[in-house]
Amino acid sequence: MQKFVSGFSKFTKDEKINWLISNYFSGNLDAKILLKSYWNSDQKLQKLHDEFIENTISNFYMPFGIAPNFLINGKVYTIPMAIEESSVVAAASNAAKFWMTRGGFKTEVLSTKKIGHVHFLFKGQPSSLQSCFKKLKSQLLASTKPLTQNMEQRGGGILDLKLIDSTKKLPHYFQLEATFETKDAMGANFINSCLEQIADSFEQLTNSGVDLDGHQPKIVMRILSNYVPNCVVRAQVSCPVSKLTLNGHFDGQEFAEKFIQAVRIAEVEPYRAVTHNKGIMNGVDAVVIATGNDFRAVEAGIHAFAARHGQYSSLSHASLEDGNFKFWMDIPLALGTVGGLTSLHPMVKLALEMLGNPSAPQLMEIIAVAGLAQNFAALRSLTTTGIQKGHMKMHLLNILNQFDANENEKNQLIDFFKTNSVSHRAVVEALKNLRN
Ligand code: MEV
Repeated sequence: MQKFVSGFSKFTKDEKINWLISNYFSGNLDAKILLKSYWNSDQKLQKLHDEFIENTISNFYMPFGIAPNFLINGKVYTIPMAIEESSVVAAASNAAKFWMTRGGFKTEVLSTKKIGHVHFLFKGQPSSLQSCFKKLKSQLLASTKPLTQNMEQRGGGILDLKLIDSTKKLPHYFQLEATFETKDAMGANFINSCLEQIADSFEQLTNSGVDLDGHQPKIVMRILSNYVPNCVVRAQVSCPVSKLTLNGHFDGQEFAEKFIQAVRIAEVEPYRAVTHNKGIMNGVDAVVIATGNDFRAVEAGIHAFAARHGQYSSLSHASLEDGNFKFWMDIPLALGTVGGLTSLHPMVKLALEMLGNPSAPQLMEIIAVAGLAQNFAALRSLTTTGIQKGHMKMHLLNILNQFDANENEKNQLIDFFKTNSVSHRAVVEALKNLRN
C-alpha cells in the first residue's frame, strides 16, 4: 500500500520521480523514462517551467496551432491557439476565411471594470453601519494609496467602494464592494492586495472608537470576483443573406433561417445551450491558454454570465432583418497582456507578439472573435452536413497514430478517406487491408 509522504516538496526532482516510481509503478523505470523524455534539453527553459508550480516532474504538451486570415475591424490577424481537440483550429481557420470575404469581424469593448469584495458579518443596525461606512470611506481608500499609485499612473486604480447590505441572502452578511480598472493587467494580485488592505483598515478603524452600538464587523474573507459582467466585449459578423451561400450548395435564406433557429434553440434550452457555449469556449480557451491567461477564471465568469437572467442560455445571438444576416455575442473577459505568465513563458510572449502585442482590451476583442468564429463553424456544420464528417476527417490522424501507422500508411489512408467516410471501424479496417 502507498505510504503517506512528508516534506515531499523539499525532495529534489529526481527524488520525487523515484518516490513516484517506487510507489505507483512497482519500480518499473518506463514511467521515469517517459517523464524525462518530456524534459526540455535547454536546462534554463526547463528550470523556468519547473518553477511555475510546486512539485514539477515533467512537462505536459499541448499542440500550439495558428489560425490565419482573421479580419478584425479591418486588420488581419493570425490567431495562436493551444488546444488538443482535432477540429478546432481547422474550424476557426475555415470560419475566418469565410468571413474575410464578407466584411470580417467587428468588435467593441463595452466596459472594462472588475470587482472584488470584503465579505463580512455585522450583527448591529444596518443604518449605523451605513453611516459609519460613509465616514470611513475616504480613509479606507486612502489606506490603499501605496498599492494603487503605479496603477493610477497607468490610468487604472480603484473606481468606487460601496457598502452592500446582503442580509436578505444570509443573516448579518454585508460586503464592501470595490470596483477596479486594471488596464492591461488581469489584476488579480492588485485587486486582492487592495481588498486585503481595505479589510485591515476597516477592521482597525471600526475597532477604534467608531460608534457601532458595541457591534464589530467580522471579516470573513477578501477576494476578487471572477464574475465580471462589467468587463464585456462584443464581437459580430453580418452580411447580406444572399452572400451566405456555401459553395453553391445551400441557399443563403434557407441557411440563415436554419442557423437562426439553431441559435434560438440554444437560447431557450439549457441542454443545448451548454453544448453551444462549449463550442464557443473551444475558441476562447485555446487563445486564452496560448496567451498565458487564466482559463479557469474566464470559464467561470463566462458561464455565470450565460446564466445571468436566471436560466443558462446561449451566449451568441442571430437575426435576419431586411435581408441582412447578423450573428453576435457579448462575453465577459478579464484578461492581462502584462504581468503573470505573459512576461515569463516564451511561447506566450511569441503568441502575443504574433498578435501585435495587444492591449488587454484588444486581446478581449481577438478572443471574442475566436469564440464567435468557432460557434459559427459549429452551427454551420450542425445545420448542414453534420459535424462528424469534418470532425472525423481531422480525427483520422489520431486513429492512425493509435495504431502506429507509418508515414506511407498514413499518406495512403488520408488519400483513401478523401472519398470515403471516416469512422473508427472504417479506419481500422482500411489499415488492416493495407497491411495485409
Ligand atoms: C465540439 O467540441 C463542439 C460542438 O459540440 C459545439 C456545438 O455543438 O455547437 C460541435
